[in-house]
Amino acid sequence: METTLARGAHTTAPPLLQVDSVTLAFGGVRALSGVGFAVQPGSITAVIGPNGAGKTSLFNTISGFYRPSKGSIRFKGQDITRIPAPQRARMGLGRSFQNIALFRGMTVLDNIIDFLEIDHIRHAPVSALSYGLQKRVEMARALAMQPEILMLDEPVAGMNREETEDMARFILDVRAEWGVTVLMVEHDMGMVMDLSDHVVVLNFGQVIAQGVPAEVQADPEVGRAYLGSGNVDELRAKLRAAAGVAA
Ligand SMILES: Nc1ncnc2c1ncn2[C@@H]1O[C@H](COP(=O)(O)OP(=O)(O)OP(=O)(O)O)[C@@H](O)[C@H]1O
Ligand SMILES: [Mg+2]
Repeated sequence: METTLARGAHTTAPPLLQVDSVTLAFGGVRALSGVGFAVQPGSITAVIGPNGAGKTSLFNTISGFYRPSKGSIRFKGQDITRIPAPQRARMGLGRSFQNIALFRGMTVLDNIIDFLEIDHIRHAPVSALSYGLQKRVEMARALAMQPEILMLDEPVAGMNREETEDMARFILDVRAEWGVTVLMVEHDMGMVMDLSDHVVVLNFGQVIAQGVPAEVQADPEVGRAYLGSGNVDELRAKLRAAAGVAA
């Protein structure tokens, strides 16, 4: 059994994942410019930023679907920048949407099904499931690979409050019980501020701020980035609500 790591208790360990000066372009569009940050083992790290900031592109680069034109990605101390995506997945980089081989070990799978409380729907057609349950099945599929790092792209998008709270609890449990490190992209600021040990803020493909949730919240440039996106009132309300939760 893995020990549960308290917030901030893992800041001195060598990073599990290290993204260095990553640049990615689609034709003339620079999706990422010199992006760098580290993910500490046992942490929950969130990547936030306005729509089109480059969050999904960053995930696709880390998991190996896109090859950066500059920079490097290290996982468990190894340079994986040129390693193909399936091999990265086998090394322990887990991604929530990927189509991956299921049923490789029933014991593992049964455990996951039990853990995520989806046993009652295991024979149901996916189309019959609520959105929240579909997201949970997707997470189970990623966990079936027994990843060391679980990458979740907007795990609570489109969920109601109750589904969001359930998902937040599962993310915390996955980390606490199995020691899985979590890297997530999420727009729900309450969830980000409540769960994360480290927050990385992207805007126009660049890291404009990073730190513990309180530092990022207090950063005026972060507020300005969201100001440009037109969602500022909503963001301010969410940040205020999150501050109330975290305080
Ligand atoms: N396959 C692609 N081909 C061309 N341009 C792309 C491609 N994928 C992303 N982009 C562009 O790269 C930029 C970053 O997009 P990305 O999807 O990474 O943003 P995001 O931060 O995930 O946004 P959202 O919050 O809306 O999901 C955008 O300008 C987008 O149009
Ligand atoms: Mg995206």
